[in-house]
Amino acid sequence: MDHIYEVLRAFRDDYEGSFSVLEFGVADGYAFTKKLHAARYLKMESRVMFHGFDTFEGLPDIDQGADGALIEGDDWVAGTYKGRYDELQSYCGAKYGNFELHKGLFEDTLTKDFLATLEEYRPALIWIDCDLYSSTISVFKRLIPWIPTGTVIYFDDIYYNFSSRFTGEMRAVHEINRGDFGSGIELVPDRYLSWNSNRLYRFINLDAKFQHKLKETRRDDLRLRGDDSPFP
Ligand SMILES: C[S@@+](CC[C@H](N)C(=O)[O-])C[C@H]1O[C@@H](n2cnc3c(N)ncnc32)[C@H](O)[C@@H]1O
Repeated sequence: MDHIYEVLRAFRDDYEGSFSVLEFGVADGYAFTKKLHAARYLKMESRVMFHGFDTFEGLPDIDQGADGALIEGDDWVAGTYKGRYDELQSYCGAKYGNFELHKGLFEDTLTKDFLATLEEYRPALIWIDCDLYSSTISVFKRLIPWIPTGTVIYFDDIYYNFSSRFTGEMRAVHEINRGDFGSGIELVPDRYLSWNSNRLYRFINLDAKFQHKLKETRRDDLRLRGDDSPFP
């Protein structure tokens, strides 16, 4: 969870403009509310808009091929993680103004109008916590053209089936890196931001619609060595 602070701080300090944070799989809002709090703590509420996507009805039907357990008894179960939309909406609404909850299937709520807002609010962090391959890939099918290079993608359930590329969120990572969405698109693990996990990736798109913009203060006109000696 503390990854959120590292990621938000990096975007606040290094990049210009406004950002969005998108969470897919919100349920009762444990992680969503932590994110809202983090932006307030980091004094960047006015620069970040949070979007939470969920049916709030729990996991959809499980495709055993793409999401079946490789260990007996470790299966996902349809209907689990049912959320609490009304309570979450009123809790967040009383405290924060920089959020929106999108109730419904990802394939229905990731509309053209919503996607167009991402050019102004460039995605800093995309939080995937929808467990299933089918749900994860349905997000990327719509979102990929709108993700600039450098956006951080967090996969909560990357360890399902030992991170095998045959199932779950890792199957989606594998398909992206195999080139299914284009040969100039990949997900690169970010070891620094991941700390002791392999949950965080940087998105790369050689033909992205738009880019994150480095702040003037972070640019070097010439990348010169310091005045230290290059010799041992
Ligand atoms: C593990 S829960 C999310 C947990 C949450 N991030 C938290 O902090 O507690 C997974 C959620 O994904 C949602 N979900 C999975 N597939 C979905 C889909 N295709 N469309 C909308 N919601 C989906 C389920 O409703 C469920 O609430």
